[in-house]
Amino acid sequence: MNDTNKKIAVVGTGVIGASWAACFLSKGYDVAATDPAAGAEERLRKLVQTWWPTLERMGMTDDASPERLSFHASPEAAVQDAVFIQESGPERLDIKRATLAQISAAAPADTLIATSSSGIPASQIQDAAQHPERVLIGHPFNPPHLIPLVEVVGGRLTSAQAIEKAMRFYESLGKKAIHIRREVKGHVANRLQAALWREAFHLVQEGVASVSDIDAAIAHGPGLRWALLGPFLNVHLSGGEGGIEHFLEHLGPPVEDWWADLGEVKLNPELNQLLIAGVDQELGTANLADIVAQRDELLLTLLKLKAQSDLLP
Ligand SMILES: NC(=O)c1ccc[n+]([C@@H]2O[C@H](COP(=O)([O-])OP(=O)(O)OC[C@H]3O[C@@H](n4cnc5c(N)ncnc54)[C@H](O)[C@@H]3O)[C@@H](O)[C@H]2O)c1
Repeated sequence: MNDTNKKIAVVGTGVIGASWAACFLSKGYDVAATDPAAGAEERLRKLVQTWWPTLERMGMTDDASPERLSFHASPEAAVQDAVFIQESGPERLDIKRATLAQISAAAPADTLIATSSSGIPASQIQDAAQHPERVLIGHPFNPPHLIPLVEVVGGRLTSAQAIEKAMRFYESLGKKAIHIRREVKGHVANRLQAALWREAFHLVQEGVASVSDIDAAIAHGPGLRWALLGPFLNVHLSGGEGGIEHFLEHLGPPVEDWWADLGEVKLNPELNQLLIAGVDQELGTANLADIVAQRDELLLTLLKLKAQSDLLP
């Protein structure tokens, strides 16, 4: 990025955009934000202040300051002179297309435009933009100021240089960027989550285990390893000295047998009620805000430990 101008535009400052804004500010950028909702500026400034101590603990650049946040009435004003644009408006095709047309006309021609979209492929929106080769998906995980993963996905018209530049940019923020080579619904990480949810919901539906026991099965079991190494390396380690090769030979056939037995599930009022009641029972009288605060505190500790460790990057 150009060091003399370090302005990033954040278009849409809801759940995801506000967290992106805080992340960019913590890395020493000027952030020019915009959002048409009433009270959006006040809400954003308050969230940035709330998150600032956490961002300080995560590590910020010396020049980082919440004072470097500006708020603009129009997307055109926000994106002027921006070196990068992160779009995080509503997940609606018509709004994404209109926003892209608007911001691409006002931004410098070579400024990357990343959309946070979880489900709308770049190919369905980028032709609305001027210079569509710089439009791509930069899909974060909530909250982007804490979770490192960003999925970068190009559309039909996205250039290889734009992908490369976006990857380098996110990595420069300390993010873990992965390039998804083909547009598929839900990108990669959410598809993996959805595969697990399908079986978890199915097991509840069939009465095999309670909601809280299924949560425990992940949070006190494989989930601990998944936060450190992904599914393939965990399989490799499960194979002992023979690694994944031995695992595939030895446990491959039973795993195929389990695959054949996994359930198909459709959400319906009865199943939804079982899931809702199960979560209510699991939570009991626990306070949700306390749980979120404790989860975030542990997450921060884990992220710091991971950053200090030599375990694969
Ligand atoms: N919530 C998540 O967990 C999550 C995770 C990853 C990606 N995303 C993606 O991020 C994007 C934003 O999702 P969110 O959860 O923050 O939604 P949100 O509803 O919290 O925020 C959307 C914001 O966009 C604003 N907005 C409305 N019209 C606009 C316009 N024309 N231009 C600019 N802003 C406008 C709204 O006022 C609102 O503040 C979506 O594309 C979504 O798919 C969401």
